[in-house]
Amino acid sequence: MPCPVTLRMNTRPIRFFHRGAIVEVDGVPPTTSVLAWLRGPARCTGTKEGCNEGDCGACTVVVAELAGRADAVGTPSARATVVGGLSLRTVNACIQFLPTLDGKALLTVEDLQGIAAVPAGPAPGLHPVQQALVECHGSQCGFCTPGFAMSLAAAYERHCEHGTTPTRQQLADELSGNLCRCTGYRPILDAGQRMFELPPHRLDTAPLVAALRRLAADPPLAYEAHNPATGGIERFVAPRSVDALAAACAAEPQARVLAGSTDVGLWVNKQLRELPSLIHLGAVDELKRIAEGDGVLTIGAAAPLEDAWAALAARVPALTDVWLRFASPPIRHAGTMGGNVANGSPIGDAPPILMALDAAVELRRGERLRRLPLTGLYLDYMKNAIEEGEFVQAIVVPLAAFGRQVRGYKISKRFDCDISALCAGMAIELDAGVVRSVRLAYGGMAATVRRAAEAEAAITGQPWSEATVRTAQQALARDFTPLTDMRASSAYRLQVAQNLLQRLWLETRPENPLPPAATSVFHLMPHAAA
Ligand code: FAD
Ligand code: FES
Ligand code: FES
Repeated sequence: MPCPVTLRMNTRPIRFFHRGAIVEVDGVPPTTSVLAWLRGPARCTGTKEGCNEGDCGACTVVVAELAGRADAVGTPSARATVVGGLSLRTVNACIQFLPTLDGKALLTVEDLQGIAAVPAGPAPGLHPVQQALVECHGSQCGFCTPGFAMSLAAAYERHCEHGTTPTRQQLADELSGNLCRCTGYRPILDAGQRMFELPPHRLDTAPLVAALRRLAADPPLAYEAHNPATGGIERFVAPRSVDALAAACAAEPQARVLAGSTDVGLWVNKQLRELPSLIHLGAVDELKRIAEGDGVLTIGAAAPLEDAWAALAARVPALTDVWLRFASPPIRHAGTMGGNVANGSPIGDAPPILMALDAAVELRRGERLRRLPLTGLYLDYMKNAIEEGEFVQAIVVPLAAFGRQVRGYKISKRFDCDISALCAGMAIELDAGVVRSVRLAYGGMAATVRRAAEAEAAITGQPWSEATVRTAQQALARDFTPLTDMRASSAYRLQVAQNLLQRLWLETRPENPLPPAATSVFHLMPHAAA
């Protein structure tokens, strides 16, 4: 096996800002979660553990980075997170590995008083978020409350910074990753509105900015520690350039590429999988870019899901529904679209939409960069064409795709933060009422996300009429034989997939197309518009 890249790099402790000072952590396994560190060695037990898999939000914390480092630079959703020169984003501490904090600042519920610049408040010592939760009876057993408080605190800072107040729906979207099993959401949403009426109590960003600038002078992180559970040494490297990342992956092709760890974190917590070597791409700023050029929109593999979806929805507003129903804000802040595509789950929500948009992936291996259509990436259940030592560098979407009528439909049992039973991406182009081109991609209908070739053939070149839809619905039954599982039966999946063709037609038919309000039960607004 090639010499692990860490052997040729000087290892150092993990360094980040916490509770008013730069802390150094050494000797804990790299797969230690931020939550385990907080509740263990750091003795900060305010942050709670519920599900330990990113679903309940009890462990919500805020991670601060210098603006422009954390985000897809210049996108509206990234700008919306900037507060006093910092990007503030909620994440789930239970599935973030501690080394991913290197060079950043960690804010927890313990910080809510301590970080305030102006100590005067409605009740001395209480942050407006906490005071509002008290006044509105937003807490009963209190187990979920620190997580809600941190989600609300992030929203509070952002809105105060931009001089806005959120609508109730926007607050509900902010809190879609926080579960409460006893209070009920009305009083919590009341608190979310009440906090803006209390005397302001803002985060003092200056010490954080100063500390983060000092941390930026550290060399790239190469960290290793003994894991008593496995008896071996575990490694974590975080290169800062694409070339260094490519070299690290080529030198150690068996290492696991780590992006936002919203899938990988669960492998450790729930499947107790061993990950002896991790190569993190979150420190490569150039991979966070989202930019237009040469006829394509390029989404860097490390761009947060939130920014990637915002970029797509800015060009196709009909994708807002799938964006806001993809997991929750903390998952979308940590997770990446590159990770969703590379993971290749048959029920991943981004691939069907990206396939409808005719997207391709840029794959990098050493010096070599190749471009593969997304339709060619998935070979079989959880098997893809990414070679050893290769990684997804970017997702590219032809700008021409945004000129078509594009739709994304997510079907899940729960509206918020749920895995899809099926998800469809559709794009259609009409010429005088006749279908010039159509792309229909489905997740949840087969072992991989894939296009519906028979249904597409039944539609292409035909008048876009109800009769054509009926023929395509029958063809769809030849395209897919879906599974029955805990999310849906085979018959349900096929029926819904067919019904979605009818919905596409209702929304895009040449005569009297229906607006989204007439075909959806819920209406969502992008966060970025807040
Ligand atoms: P990671 O967890 O870091 O990596 C995932 C896999 O991809 C690993 O095998 C890793 O090696 C590989 N990988 C990552 N980046 C690259 C790269 N650039 N090149 C090569 N390989 C790479 N998914 C949905 O589709 N819809 C949902 O609604 C949804 N909801 C979720 C809710 C919760 C609570 C959780 C925990 C997860 C949810 N997910 C959902 C799954 C997950 O959030 C997504 O798949 C996410 O996009 C993964 O991205 P990541 O950056 O976290 O990937
Ligand atoms: Fe439930 Fe982390 S403990 S999301
Ligand atoms: Fe008990 Fe929310 S107050 S779970």
